[in-house]
Amino acid sequence: MTKTYTRDGKNKKAVLMREEKIENILQQMTLDEKIGMIHGAGLFRNEGVPRLGVPPLYMSDGPMGVRQEFHNDRWNGVYDREDMVTYLPSNSAIAATWNPKRAKECGRVLGSETRARGKDVILAPGINIKRTPLCGRNFEYMSEDPYLVCEMAVPLIEGIQEQDVAACVKHFAVNGQETNRLWVDTIVDERTLNEIYLPGFEAAVHRAHSYSIMGAYNLLNGQHCCENKILLGDILRKKWNYDGAVISDWGGVHNTKAAAESELDLEMSVTDNFDEYCMANPLKAAIQRGEISQEVVDKKVRNILRLMYRLKMLEGTGRRKKGRYHSGKHIKAAKKTARESVILLKNEESILPLKLSDRVAVIGKNATAIHSCGGGSAEIKALYEVTPLMALLNAGGGDTHIEYEPGYFIPDTEASQSQNWQETSLEDRKQEPDTQGTIDSEAQKDALEKKIIEYRDRAVRLARESKQTIIFAGLNHDYDVEGSDKESLKLPYHQDELIEAVLDANPDAVVVIMGGAPVEMDWLNKAKAVVWYYYSGLEGATAVAEVLTGNVNPSGKLPETFPKHTEDIYSVKLGEFGKSDKLEYKDGVFVGYRYYVSHNIETNFCFGHGLSYTEFSLGIPDVRCEGGKVIVSAALRNIGTRKGKETVQLYITPPQGRVERPIMELKAFKKKALEPEEKKNLKFILDRSAFAYYDEQLHGYRVEPGEYKISLGMSVQDIRQSVTVRYSYEKGFEC
Ligand code: BGC
Repeated sequence: MTKTYTRDGKNKKAVLMREEKIENILQQMTLDEKIGMIHGAGLFRNEGVPRLGVPPLYMSDGPMGVRQEFHNDRWNGVYDREDMVTYLPSNSAIAATWNPKRAKECGRVLGSETRARGKDVILAPGINIKRTPLCGRNFEYMSEDPYLVCEMAVPLIEGIQEQDVAACVKHFAVNGQETNRLWVDTIVDERTLNEIYLPGFEAAVHRAHSYSIMGAYNLLNGQHCCENKILLGDILRKKWNYDGAVISDWGGVHNTKAAAESELDLEMSVTDNFDEYCMANPLKAAIQRGEISQEVVDKKVRNILRLMYRLKMLEGTGRRKKGRYHSGKHIKAAKKTARESVILLKNEESILPLKLSDRVAVIGKNATAIHSCGGGSAEIKALYEVTPLMALLNAGGGDTHIEYEPGYFIPDTEASQSQNWQETSLEDRKQEPDTQGTIDSEAQKDALEKKIIEYRDRAVRLARESKQTIIFAGLNHDYDVEGSDKESLKLPYHQDELIEAVLDANPDAVVVIMGGAPVEMDWLNKAKAVVWYYYSGLEGATAVAEVLTGNVNPSGKLPETFPKHTEDIYSVKLGEFGKSDKLEYKDGVFVGYRYYVSHNIETNFCFGHGLSYTEFSLGIPDVRCEGGKVIVSAALRNIGTRKGKETVQLYITPPQGRVERPIMELKAFKKKALEPEEKKNLKFILDRSAFAYYDEQLHGYRVEPGEYKISLGMSVQDIRQSVTVRYSYEKGFEC
């Protein structure tokens, strides 16, 4: 029996019983029944074999909550279903908390609601590395840093699976752009793959025991991921010993023989010709012709039955949890996470927190926008969604008179009007976003320009007349969306001009930006206070209002770098991003801050940045080298007057060696809550892996001898303390 990394793997007897049961069911299945198990028989289910007590496997998107009910064979919502759910903070927001506990709680909510909606697999979390902020789906992903991804994805998956629901961690692997996502061939070297793009998935398999994993649309080094012999075979099954189920992205399979003989288990797609899927009738025919062995099908069925066994879907496998549709507890968990995800980027002259005056101007369409229902497969039907304007009205109560001006104008776009995009999502080889609206004539153009100016002028007038002004700007799901990438980091809808003009009228105006990826901020020098938040769930705006008014002390930290300009992005500089055929990742391991810091490139805000309304200090660290480990301790003290939370980050700087390495790499972090004057001791235990790089000759990790700097700080560029340790082959680590 192969070594297994799943939770039930430790109990040998239980594993034997499970495998026997699986074998027993498998032996009774006909070829047709087996084929029915390994391809979609509906948009979100396989067939199952009811006569043998094997129900269909029901799946649903997605990361921000359980998606609405669709008809079995149509991408139309089922209207008579009460399928509103808790709108959870996006993975970007969860990552911004830097708090694994929050990730676990969100996972529990997602798992519970998935189960209560009668689903078995939730197609989440999305953990692709944010190689560039231009990727349209970044809002669904966590970070540019693999360590942070691992630490946040593991508890999220654990939380989901505690509820007897399978996580389906996606998209395996290197799905870093949406442009031509079905056909782009991503070329990545072995070191980069291992250091940057695989660790999150490996942690999902080895640490979180994700019951399923979704193959990506793109090709990796010449082969489609869902049929990829190296990725699914050599890496996932052989190296990682994965015995869970591998599910294709919807429409990610292209070739019957390649898919059948790969380690993929279940083919899903977006069209209703279920019998014609590669792993349906075409596979059956190939088996009957003797071109493909039936054993490959058996292997796949076993993996799916094992998944069902783990979920207690098969008779005699235990009592399965029932889940809760939604509840006050779920909303509370979403709110708690949202509170910790708001990031205070800038706060000159301690403009924030605000004591709301009797006349407040709220400017910007994002103050009233609803976002939960967009973004692609991550869309959901939220139970409700508080807007920033609602949240501020609530915070101010009857003593505050709030006036609102949208400030910028959003033209109707085909993108925002289009229905059932998923059905046609596989048709175009390259999908271009339509975010500008259709402007046919000069007259229409003039009318639009007039409108933009009219909106801006009204907002500026209001800002001038009000004691306090808060701008709610940013992105929406016309930009943060599946299926297309951004062309630049510029704020759309002429918002830069609006923000600049409002700041001229009222230099104390607070700028609040929401989005799924960084934006350029050419007005940054003029703004005294800037707050950032990601799509952060049904109570996200409440959390923002609480931060603005000081009821919550902000503690979010950037899980990604905010570059100054689009041209600063490495993949853009290399002319690589958005290529639609062969896309070589020449940036290698220099992704995100690994690039900006190593090449000394100025950014607007660095990785790990996030301010608080209080101040923290970090004492001189103590370092010990024991049993092959390096133990670093330091005291964190709240030296301000408010209670607050701080995340101390630990980065390693390696010595010069055989290969070029980033000068800073995150290897540990700890978030702590402290009362004023309170002091807490932080202890970081580092093993070899924290100092290692992937050596292509060795096909494994190597620690080079020399001096390593260990830096502790509040962001990658706010380093407060550092110590060094030496490593030699003879003596190991020495302090
Ligand atoms: C997306 C997946 C999603 C699937 C099912 C695909 O287009 O890439 O993330 O889970 O659709 O909706």
